Amino acid sequence: MKKYRYVSVFVFLLASVMLSCDKDNNHPGYSYFPDMQDSRAYEPYSSNPNFTDGKSLRLPPEGTVPREMIPYDFEKTPENRTWAGINIVNMTEMSMEDVKRGKELFGIFCINCHGEKGDGKGFLYTSGKYPYAPKSLVTDILKTTPRGEFFHVITTGFGVMGAHGPQIKPDDRWKIIEYIKVELQGKDIGQ
Ligand code: HEC
Repeated sequence: MKKYRYVSVFVFLLASVMLSCDKDNNHPGYSYFPDMQDSRAYEPYSSNPNFTDGKSLRLPPEGTVPREMIPYDFEKTPENRTWAGINIVNMTEMSMEDVKRGKELFGIFCINCHGEKGDGKGFLYTSGKYPYAPKSLVTDILKTTPRGEFFHVITTGFGVMGAHGPQIKPDDRWKIIEYIKVELQGKDIGQ
């Protein structure tokens, strides 16, 4: 008798689990106390009666810059490049650890055009996919070119080379430059 009782409890439980499923799959079911489910704030793209233009997303105040972004107000001109070479310096002391990181970043952002040795023979060019010869970074002129000019070229671009400022953080630009100077051009660190 006891056995049957267990079986009937089991059948009852099974039946209630099965029957509790909704037949209509499009019905989301019922929710109780949905106080955390629906946001009381306006969603970014929802309309908003509190503003005259009806939009929830507001423009940031004029002059706002993203966190960590340092505005770079120089243009892609030879004069600006020269100015940068004299006035823009790396304020952080570089270590061999930074050079190592610079190598990785060079491998991500520059190697495909400028090549492993920095001689301008990167895969994109040698394979014929990129038609314009990238400049060699190990010429006598560039060996004496100040780091600030490199910073300027990476940030704003140069000739047909595109700007890399938006992709590479300033700190990382300096690491790439240190790698070029130390490993590719054979200069002393920080000199
Ligand atoms: C898509 C290919 C491409 C990539 C990627 C690229 N460059 Fe260039 N770079 C060029 C080309 C092409 C030139 C020459 C532009 C010209 O003469 O109009 C150039 C020029 C330069 C110059 C100036 C050389 C001179 O003689 O004054 C420097 C410095 C330089 N690149 C550094 C870099 C660094 C550092 C990176 C990586 C952050 C990089 N480039 C990524 C194609 C590229």
